[in-house]
Amino acid sequence: TGMFTLDPGFTSTASCESEITYIDGDEGILLYRGYPIEQLAEHGDFLETCYLLLYGHLPTPEEKIDFDTRVTRHTMVHEQMSKFYTGFRRDAHPMAVMVGVIGALSAFYHDSTDISDPHQRMVASLRMIAKMPTIAAMAYKYTIGQPFVHPRNELSYAANFLHMCFSVPAEPYEVNPVLARAMDRIFILHADHEQNASTSTVRLAGSSGANPFGCIAAGIACLWGPAHGGANEAALNMLHEIGTVDRVAEYVAKAKDKNDPFRLMGFGHRVYKNYDPRARIMQATCHEVLNELGVKDDPTLEVAMELEKIALSDPYFIEKKLYPNIDFYSGITLRALGFPAEMFTVLFALARTVGWIAQWKEMVEDPSQRIGRPRQLFTGAPSRDYIEMEDR
Ligand code: CMC
Repeated sequence: TGMFTLDPGFTSTASCESEITYIDGDEGILLYRGYPIEQLAEHGDFLETCYLLLYGHLPTPEEKIDFDTRVTRHTMVHEQMSKFYTGFRRDAHPMAVMVGVIGALSAFYHDSTDISDPHQRMVASLRMIAKMPTIAAMAYKYTIGQPFVHPRNELSYAANFLHMCFSVPAEPYEVNPVLARAMDRIFILHADHEQNASTSTVRLAGSSGANPFGCIAAGIACLWGPAHGGANEAALNMLHEIGTVDRVAEYVAKAKDKNDPFRLMGFGHRVYKNYDPRARIMQATCHEVLNELGVKDDPTLEVAMELEKIALSDPYFIEKKLYPNIDFYSGITLRALGFPAEMFTVLFALARTVGWIAQWKEMVEDPSQRIGRPRQLFTGAPSRDYIEMEDR
């Protein structure tokens, strides 16, 4: 058993080599293919970011048009899929629906599940990026009992998503460009984050040669946990529970109490031991959205800012290097955009899909790739003889 090194939680083991995303956790730096997240969020758009993550370089104008067109061509889902949704209870959590529906994609698009063919790999990738907003919006519409809304391909990726979520056949719906831009930026911030739990899940699932839709479904299942993507929903629920600024100190004390399992949701990160650069952009986006909507003195935002202020000056959080992460401000922003808390992790999954695919593609295209097969340090019973029932 001494042959293997025990590393619970993989705090010191690199599972792969990758050229896609770089994080410097001490400095709070995040680069996609070398480009700082701040610059991409400021100047780029989400589909450009998708292209960058998948191909390794920023697209030329021709490449961008070509890519956008190819993605747009795949935004519709097979009509039979709408029947798939109706098998779920209306009160199902949309993440549960997502795990099922994305897992089922291989049954609807079995022509793009042969991963040994680069063309099929690319078609599967484009299909997933293109269909994710449609599928996520359908999950939302189903749970609120409204009819599914078809994609509108003349709209941008983010604007089309808002259209599919919030328009109803009975009334005209105009997408607010400021809100669409904010949505797009939120997608960029979530697009990739190197070997986090869900991405590692996608890679491990894919290492057996499993079909790409199934691998992404595995990633979605992993993302749902409150320590990972589920934290955005948990963070907003926590801010609501705190309710008013005068109760913040009480919750900070609870989070510091070792006998209390409560943690401040949206705080702390395995890799960032500094302010999460995504949280900074998210906070700015949050203010932009609230301004655009004319929301003044949002009590939840006030609680969030007070919480951040206290936590950042408290020795417990300073010593443990616990800073707000991306999920801290995303909930307030997404709620202002009109989404209920159950949809937050779905939006994370939607945006992270490209990262999962880029990482999966990098893995399957690596000639040295082998099945992922961790070993263990066995601590159970040694070999022993079976005892007949009457002798026990
Ligand atoms: N509130 C209070 N104490 C905390 C928190 C928190 N949010 N996070 C970590 N700590 C403490 C923890 O109790 C431990 O203390 P000690 O060393 O005395 O036992 C120390 O800080 C280190 O924590 P850890 O759990 O060993 O750290 P980890 O790297 O295993 O976990 C984490 C990282 C993100 C799971 C954790 O910080 C956490 O649970 N945060 C709250 C959930 C959250 O916001 N998750 C979103 C992460 S970012 C986006 C994403 O991945 O989806």
